[in-house]
Amino acid sequence: EAGALWGGRFAGGPSPELARLSKSTHFDWQLAGYDIRGSRAHARALAAAGYLTEDELAGMLAGLDTLDEAVDDGRFQPSAADEDVHSALERGLIDIVGTELGGKLRAGRSRNDQVATLVRMLLRDHAAVIARLVVDLIDALAAQAEANETAIMPGRTHLQHAQPVLLAHHLFAHCWPLVRDLERFTDWNKRANFSPYGSGALAGNTLGLDATLIATELGFGAVVENSIDGTASRDLVAEFAYITAQIGIDLSRLAEEIILWNTREFGFVTLHDSYSTGSSIMPQKKNPDIAELARGKSGRLIGNLTGLLTTLKGLPLAYNRDLQEDKEPVFDSIETLEVLLPAFTGMIATITFHTDRMAELAPQGFSLATDVAEWLVKRHVSFRDAHEITGTLVKVAEAKGLDLHEIDDAQLAEISPHLVPEVREVLTIQGSVNRRDGQAGTAPVRVAEQRAALVARVHTL
Ligand code: ARG
Repeated sequence: EAGALWGGRFAGGPSPELARLSKSTHFDWQLAGYDIRGSRAHARALAAAGYLTEDELAGMLAGLDTLDEAVDDGRFQPSAADEDVHSALERGLIDIVGTELGGKLRAGRSRNDQVATLVRMLLRDHAAVIARLVVDLIDALAAQAEANETAIMPGRTHLQHAQPVLLAHHLFAHCWPLVRDLERFTDWNKRANFSPYGSGALAGNTLGLDATLIATELGFGAVVENSIDGTASRDLVAEFAYITAQIGIDLSRLAEEIILWNTREFGFVTLHDSYSTGSSIMPQKKNPDIAELARGKSGRLIGNLTGLLTTLKGLPLAYNRDLQEDKEPVFDSIETLEVLLPAFTGMIATITFHTDRMAELAPQGFSLATDVAEWLVKRHVSFRDAHEITGTLVKVAEAKGLDLHEIDDAQLAEISPHLVPEVREVLTIQGSVNRRDGQAGTAPVRVAEQRAALVARVHTL
């Protein structure tokens, strides 16, 4: 019955209203496998400290194995009366090994140190899963960059044509934030490498349990330094939620561009049929739903982070039941990304880029004006004058409805004696891109180096 873990001092069980509010098995059941692993380690620590005989330990471990299998194949389920995963599993163990032995397992531990440890274990496993999915996305972007190595597109600022760039350079620009997200997980993982097991309810335990033994068995490098911090802090959960939200934001920025590129007006991409959707009424429609869902789900990921931070704000030490609210948001963020990322990567991997259309638009909007100004600077005109001269050139071209390279020699000379006919040498998008060969620039030689640096960064993680 509910309250089985703490019935002694109570005259009766909890009211149905309380039981309904208090219940968490519908979400914390995800921790069941981790709870059982924790119990195995704890049982060994109890035996090492002399609280279980060798036979009792063997019986306990065998019982936990049986329970683990029953949880795995769904034969053991939380009952209506179980408050949380921890209480349900104690009930399950007692069903298998009896009250006498089963009742010994809980000595020296609390659900407070348990749950703090188990959530860390779950997050560490999913950090690895999500990181692999992010690497897949980076690989898909890099493969598209390689397949469209020479393509030039209009680079934009303020969504206006600014300067031509290599499509590869633009795609790699979406890779670097994702690389940093991977590095964020690696860095987070160092901080998450401490086990709260043994912290007890808040103050530690009196039984001389070897918490390092438990930590090592559960894959942690060390034990937390402070039992109150171990049971009451959730900054690591919030930090994990931040990383997932940041990934969501990184995806949504790329998603927004794909949505734009996919419009008739841009015409830069065609999405593969198997990664687009149709309309129930308009037979002609082919919609970029994956990109839109990515953009939409970034809001949900941010909401999970802000909800969690709001829960934590002002919470006194040590454990408070509010902390149970850490799990649903972060579990949802995990589920969201683990479903979204494979679809998003599939969409990227199968996109067709219309590089002719991009190249056609790349010089439009006077995007080579900076090249003219910098060409003048190379001929020792001050940048201030060069900017002014080029600005006049743009004004004249705009008034005549011409492009910069279409202005004839006499008109050029009239604007400035510095504008000799050779200026046309810089008025090609290929020339413009090739000349931007400073470090981190869009010149093909630099982009090739960048690609190598990206691959190296991803593979040192
Ligand atoms: N289910 C709780 C949680 O997720 C752990 C139980 C701690 N309960 C308590 N009354 N101390 O945080």
